[in-house]
Amino acid sequence: MNKKSTIKLIYKKKLDLFQKYNKFYFDKNQPLVSDSEYDELKKEIYLIEKNNIFLKSKNSPLKTVGHKPSKNFKKANHKVRMLSLANAFSEEDLINFEKKITNFLSKKEGFKISYSAEPKIDGISASLTYKNGNFVRGLSRGDGKEGEDITENLNTIKDIPKKISLKDFPKEIDIRGEVFIQNSDFEYLKDKFANPRNAASGSLRQKNPEDTKKIPLKFIAYTFGFENGLKVENQSDYLSQLKIWGFKINPLNKLISGVKNLIDNYNDIEKKRADLDFDIDGIVYKVNDFALQKRLGNVANAPRWAVAHKFSSNKAVSQIKDIEIQIGRTGALTPVAKIKPINIGGVQVSNATLHNEDEIIRKDIRIGDTVTVERAGDVIPHVISVDVSKRKNNSNKFIFPKKCPCGYNTIKEFNKLTKKFDAVRRCPDRGFECNRIAKEKLKHFVSKEAFNIDGLGKKIVEKFWELNLIKLPQDIFKLDYKRIEKLDGWGRLSADNLRYSVDEKKQISLERFIYSLGIRHIGLENAKLLARYFGSFHNLKNLSKKNNYNELLNIDGIGETQLVSIKNFFSKDINIKILNELDKLLNIQQAKNISKKGILRDKSFLVTGKLNNISRAEVKSLIEENSGTTVSSVSKKLNYLIIGEKPTKSKIEDAKALKIKVINQDEFLKILNKTS
Ligand code: IVH
Repeated sequence: MNKKSTIKLIYKKKLDLFQKYNKFYFDKNQPLVSDSEYDELKKEIYLIEKNNIFLKSKNSPLKTVGHKPSKNFKKANHKVRMLSLANAFSEEDLINFEKKITNFLSKKEGFKISYSAEPKIDGISASLTYKNGNFVRGLSRGDGKEGEDITENLNTIKDIPKKISLKDFPKEIDIRGEVFIQNSDFEYLKDKFANPRNAASGSLRQKNPEDTKKIPLKFIAYTFGFENGLKVENQSDYLSQLKIWGFKINPLNKLISGVKNLIDNYNDIEKKRADLDFDIDGIVYKVNDFALQKRLGNVANAPRWAVAHKFSSNKAVSQIKDIEIQIGRTGALTPVAKIKPINIGGVQVSNATLHNEDEIIRKDIRIGDTVTVERAGDVIPHVISVDVSKRKNNSNKFIFPKKCPCGYNTIKEFNKLTKKFDAVRRCPDRGFECNRIAKEKLKHFVSKEAFNIDGLGKKIVEKFWELNLIKLPQDIFKLDYKRIEKLDGWGRLSADNLRYSVDEKKQISLERFIYSLGIRHIGLENAKLLARYFGSFHNLKNLSKKNNYNELLNIDGIGETQLVSIKNFFSKDINIKILNELDKLLNIQQAKNISKKGILRDKSFLVTGKLNNISRAEVKSLIEENSGTTVSSVSKKLNYLIIGEKPTKSKIEDAKALKIKVINQDEFLKILNKTS
């Protein structure tokens, strides 16, 4: 494929993806990606187009604003196009914006421009046509040229005047503004939508206006489209007129000149953001004077006289309402800040992790503090800094609890490797004995890589836990479905479905089962090793009876840390009871024997030193493929010690003393070759 066709192919792929995102966002109100990911894709498409003029597509995001109207509504043309705005992210972007304007107007540097600075509400724009003072039609933005006729739905919004009988109101005008939902009203809808914007869009585009009416949508006006008889000369006067005519306008609008003052206002408003009852994602600056606006005109689909100064898409300022301590599956106490809900990159954030006790001390984080929260990718949002200047005089240092809510004293473990105490405070490894840890262990028990029970996710485990339906793993297989059927939001069908999914998972492989137990330091890989070692559930259960834990050290990959944790698990009566109960309820399969027919069958190996051109992992899998085993220390059970460069001398000495065969890499490969 030549270079041109490769670029075309990549370009098309990106456009298809973009269309898909748009469809979900605009038609289904179900964004597939975060706002920043969406913007990133848009930027990539823009750059490809810019660097390859041979690409021309109707679908180019540069030529469309928003999305084609969905099929549910009648369409109609906007008399004057609904434009989009260019974005600015930094002071430098603003300086350039102003420079372009002064250049275009052929003014000297220092020419003072007044801007109407309007916090940019993150909602859905709409255009309301008034004829002779009557609201006659309302359109959504659609693709900027053609919108959807949503008059009936807009008619349900109280903030939209239906009749204006003031003398100076234009004969005809399209009043444009934003339909949105207040954060406090979003509280009731947050289970259904990712953020207030989606809730507003979803509500506004309900097929039945009666459904729209149920949701408290608001409207704020900020611009106009077609007009006949408008008698104002600048944006700030227009905004004042809107108010007189009975429209709501943004209470934080300001008239400002000079980039420095714009930045001060921006910082000021960003700090206030969490206290506002509506989502804003930046500030719009518009050249105030309409005569200058007219001269400046448009570029592509955005005016040259306006720009949207966006807030960072992954950081926001908010306030800590409370600090909660969450207990994890391994007993770790994690402090979580409950913050005033704030939209970060399209996601409503109300919790931010504070990591651990040391972090709280280091940053001196307190309840009531104004903090900057970051949300990047799929990582849990976290507090990055505190604005100490905003702190009240009577604020107190946060005292980290020394006890787990189960009543036990917590500890900080000593890490032998770093020779330091851990930063994390823990409820000692009490497993199911601590009711808070137990709940987390249950969530792990049903998780994807463990039992993976459809319809029994974390939230439901949490609910069933509170209702005393599930306290220990065995309860999952003895659920009271008659009771579940009667719970809010359940019913016969859902309960039957759950029963079906639970029953389906009663048969499970030994390795998944071991992993499900959530023994500390036993992840997927170690569970696999243990399953292979034990072969059957019976052997695993007998481990405590035989009290022969040290033999586990023969398994390559299992060390002292894992051993202590396994011992601890089997030393608790509650765990033995759980195993016995589960044994009765489940069908735990024997671990699959790896072929026992290979040339290395019944032979064990240990490698010391570095081998040539082959990794430890590869040697291990070579040995296992040929039915051999690998161990981690020299003992009587070892058959071959393979030595590479810089081996551990004591291992060789121990092996010789035990008359174990010591071989080098070539000799090892010869043993393998003999057979293949
Ligand atoms: S003016 C001609 N003013 O931002 C300029 N838009 O990306 C376009 N928005 O579609 C409209 N607050 O949904 C303007 N004070 C404001 C605004 C505002 C929010 C939205 C609007 C528009 C989008 C542009």
